[in-house]
Amino acid sequence: MLTFFRRLSLGAVGLVLTAVALAQDNVVNIYSSRHYQTDEALYSGFTKRTGIKVNRIEAGEDALIERIRNEGARSPADVLVTVDAGRLWRAEQLGLFQPVKSALLESRVPESFRDPGGHWFGFSMRARVIAYNKDKVRPGEVQSYEELAEPKWKGRVCMRSSTNIYNLSLMGALIDHLGEQKAEAWAKAVRANLAQEPKGGDTDQLKAVAAGQCDVTVSNQYYYARLARSQKADERKVAERIGIVFPNQKTWGTHVNISGAGVLKHAPHRDAAVKFLEYLASDEAQRYFADGNNEWPVAPNVKLDNPVLNALGEFKRDRLNVAVLGRNQPSSQKIYDRVAWK
Ligand SMILES: [Fe+2]
Repeated sequence: MLTFFRRLSLGAVGLVLTAVALAQDNVVNIYSSRHYQTDEALYSGFTKRTGIKVNRIEAGEDALIERIRNEGARSPADVLVTVDAGRLWRAEQLGLFQPVKSALLESRVPESFRDPGGHWFGFSMRARVIAYNKDKVRPGEVQSYEELAEPKWKGRVCMRSSTNIYNLSLMGALIDHLGEQKAEAWAKAVRANLAQEPKGGDTDQLKAVAAGQCDVTVSNQYYYARLARSQKADERKVAERIGIVFPNQKTWGTHVNISGAGVLKHAPHRDAAVKFLEYLASDEAQRYFADGNNEWPVAPNVKLDNPVLNALGEFKRDRLNVAVLGRNQPSSQKIYDRVAWK
């Protein structure tokens, strides 16, 4: 690991030599925005199976994309692991990935969870659920994203900022299902229903709901699961006050997204990189990858031993290809801007 960092800090001439040296090593270099406990088991599991050593650099999602851009053709990175199809789509638009054709990946990763061109693949699924305060909202009182726009929720909704990728992707789905006009009307009405100006992340919205600052919000399910499984009693209390709804079960299904990865365009170890993606689709890795962040595996018939997710049960998910969420991103941001959802 140390030598890897040292190599990265070398000058231009050194980097050319480094690329050659790296290409000869039996390693794969991974840039990841994940940092969960189960990732250790994931990487050592890969090495055990293939004999390929894993070097990794962890940083924030956007920082990694920026870094790969700056490194250009001399980047030592083979694989980018990151969250949200919108972000993978952005990386693809920047030309950072190369296409991968793998029968194994195509059979293990459902079609709607991968780029049609093979530039990236989803390896775990997250759902954007509705969370409500159980003291203030009856079960069944809100069953769809669309209902959050109804006047009865005036002053009762918390939402995070529209610049956040999760809300951009949610809007991407709404645009596809409702059309731009109705999607904008939705955003305008939800904006008018806000109890407070958007601030903080999903966990902050959940805490605000539990504290009674607002009655409903939307959040990725793993933030709720983290609270419910927390070592801290006060965090578990937050989860206890909250009810979870999988929206749109009677219509197009709950909006889902992915954590995923792709092989980088200038990957010095292309074969090892493809093997790593194929490993991520295996039963063993699917469990590590999903459970590390309280997400669901994407491969068929992989069962999780996660009490909170299992208690939430099965649900109907949106079948829209997640690449569309990325493609709709510019329109999504424009809609949020037009309705002044900050
Ligand atoms: Fe997140």
